[in-house]
Amino acid sequence: MNKITVVGAGNVGATLAQRVAEKELARELVLVDVVEGIPQGKGLDQWESAPVEGFDTRIEGTNDYGAAANSDLILVTAGIARKPGMSRDDLVKTNVEIIKSVSQQIKQGSPDAIVIMVSNPLDVMCWVARQVTGFPRERVIGMAGVLDTARYRSFLASALNVSVEDIQAMVLGGHGDTMVPLVSYTTVAGIPVTQLIDAKKLAEIVDRTRKGGAEIVGLLKTGRHRPDGGSGGPGQEAHPAVLGLARRRIWGERGLPWRAMQAGRQRSGADHRGGVEQGRAGGPG
Ligand SMILES: NC(=O)c1ccc[n+]([C@@H]2O[C@H](COP(=O)([O-])OP(=O)(O)OC[C@H]3O[C@@H](n4cnc5c(N)ncnc54)[C@H](O)[C@@H]3O)[C@@H](O)[C@H]2O)c1
Repeated sequence: MNKITVVGAGNVGATLAQRVAEKELARELVLVDVVEGIPQGKGLDQWESAPVEGFDTRIEGTNDYGAAANSDLILVTAGIARKPGMSRDDLVKTNVEIIKSVSQQIKQGSPDAIVIMVSNPLDVMCWVARQVTGFPRERVIGMAGVLDTARYRSFLASALNVSVEDIQAMVLGGHGDTMVPLVSYTTVAGIPVTQLIDAKKLAEIVDRTRKGGAEIVGLLKTGRHRPDGGSGGPGQEAHPAVLGLARRRIWGERGLPWRAMQAGRQRSGADHRGGVEQGRAGGPG
């Protein structure tokens, strides 16, 4: 992609921005927030890590939506987060107003963008964004099922002491306590999970999945703060959706460094595949 914008430079947004940049999902990453200095500081800090992590996505932190104009993809994380004891629906009043104003900016500056909504209550915020932008439904996507499924899979992997990669599962429904982990379609390396975990334990895992967000909020005491701003957490939750879109839509299966490398190879007539570059040949894939 050419440009991805992350709106909201809080705990989710900042982690997400770092993940997007490290995976080089776009040439440019814009991080927008209303609080002066926060997106600029976090964006600069992240960009300075580029030589260490080896990514070339340019990161710009700003309070000005002008920098976000003509984005291909906009990830919306703006708004307040839950405190212990709050439901996602308790955020609705505040976040509706925030998402309305963010959506107006999106409509004005990036009328062709795809929007991935993260802010809660998720299903309502998706509806608000769709109403305000007027975008077709396939361009306003809510991020939650992938997170709920990841939680469910991680709990099962822990219970069975197997790799998360061996757990095939899906959670359907809204992003709330009524979500539906599909137990009868859950398998472990092809074996129905019901043959491996007893019904009582499975019911506990299903319940824990439904309350997964509240469990974390309760532990952190306030929102979803990660002191290191680093791995795990919301950015991790969000990136599969972003990654899938980026792979399919813009760069094909290869990333910017791969292209640059190909161009360099053509110019020099050399084949670098045996060298360091080989490890980068797959780009973000
Ligand atoms: N869908 C999911 O699975 C999922 C997972 C985690 C968190 N969330 C939700 O994501 C949202 C963000 O969570 P967080 O922990 O990052 O919160 P946070 O408080 O750390 O960050 C939110 C940021 O949004 C900014 N903001 C507020 N109004 C804005 C506006 N008009 N334009 C731009 N930025 C604005 C704030 O200044 C703040 O920096 C919350 O609503 C939370 O519930 C959803």
